[in-house]
Amino acid sequence: MFSISKTKIKKEEGIPIMKKIIAGSSSPMLAKNLAKILNVPIANVSVKRFPDGECYVRLHEEVEHAIIIQNTYPDENIIELFLLQDAARRMANRIDVIIPYYGYGRQDKIFEYGEAISAEKMARLIEQDADSVALVNPHKQHIMNFFSIPSHSIDATETLASYFKGKVDIVVAPDKGAASMAAKAAQVIGCDYDYFEKHRISGSVVETKLKKMDVAGRNVVIIDDIISTGGTMLQAIKQLVDQEANNIYVACIHGLFIGNADDKILQEGAKEIVTTDTIESAYSRVSVAGEIAKLF
Ligand code: R5P
Repeated sequence: MFSISKTKIKKEEGIPIMKKIIAGSSSPMLAKNLAKILNVPIANVSVKRFPDGECYVRLHEEVEHAIIIQNTYPDENIIELFLLQDAARRMANRIDVIIPYYGYGRQDKIFEYGEAISAEKMARLIEQDADSVALVNPHKQHIMNFFSIPSHSIDATETLASYFKGKVDIVVAPDKGAASMAAKAAQVIGCDYDYFEKHRISGSVVETKLKKMDVAGRNVVIIDDIISTGGTMLQAIKQLVDQEANNIYVACIHGLFIGNADDKILQEGAKEIVTTDTIESAYSRVSVAGEIAKLF
C-alpha cells in the first residue's frame, strides 16, 4: 500500500490535520467523488485567466495537507497545476499530487536523436512542489522512474472491465501493446481475450488479424489505454464488423477524442463508448475515485 497519507505533518494528538482536496479545472467530478469517499473537504480555490491568457490561482482557505488533482493535459492545465502546487507549498506541510491523465507520457524516450523526453521533463517540474505523485495508467510503467519523490501508478483496468461483466463474451486489444490489459480485463469479466496482430503482406500493405479467436456472433469489447484520434480503434472495429461480431463496445482509460473521434467510432459500428473519468466526458461511465482513495 502506498503511504502518501502517512503525512510528514507532526501534529499534537487530538488536533486534526487540515487535509483538503484541491480540485484543478480538469477534474471537478473526480475530485468530488474522491472527497466523498475520503470524507475530506474540497478547498475553496479561484482559478482565473488574465486577458492575455495567463493563469491566476488563489487558495481561499488554510490547507496543511493538500491533495491536488489535475491533469497535465491539455497544456493550459499544466500551468494551472504548477500554480496550484506553488500556492499550496506556501501554506501546506504536505502536497500529494494526483494526475489522473499524465499528458506528455507518450514521449517517454528518445525515438529519434535530438528529441526531448517530455515525460521525464514533466516529472522533474512536478516534483519541485510535491511530496508524492500518483498517476492513473501511465502510458508506460517506466515513467514512474522519472520521479525522484515517492510515486504510485494506479491501474484502473479492473474498474473499467467491471462495467462489462455480463455484457461481453470476449475482450480484444487493438494491438499487441494492449494485450496484457485485455488479459487482465478478461479475467475480471470471466471471458476470453485476444489481440490484433499486424502482418506485412508487402512493402506497402499491412493486414491486421486477430491472433486466434473467432468473433462471429459474439459480443466484443475493444480495450486500450488511450483513445486519441481514434485511428487505432476504428481499424479494430472495421475488422470486427467484417468478421460479423455482434455488439461491439469500445473502452479505454483515457478518452481524448481528438477531432470528433467519438463520433467516428460510433459511426463505424460501436454500440457504446466507455471511459473512466481521468478525462471527464459524456463517456466517463466509470470512476477511478475508488482506486485513488485506496492510497490514503
Ligand atoms: C498507443 O500506444 C496507445 O496505446 C493507443 O493505442 C494510441 O494512443 C491510440 O491513438 P489513436 O486513438 O490516435 O489511434
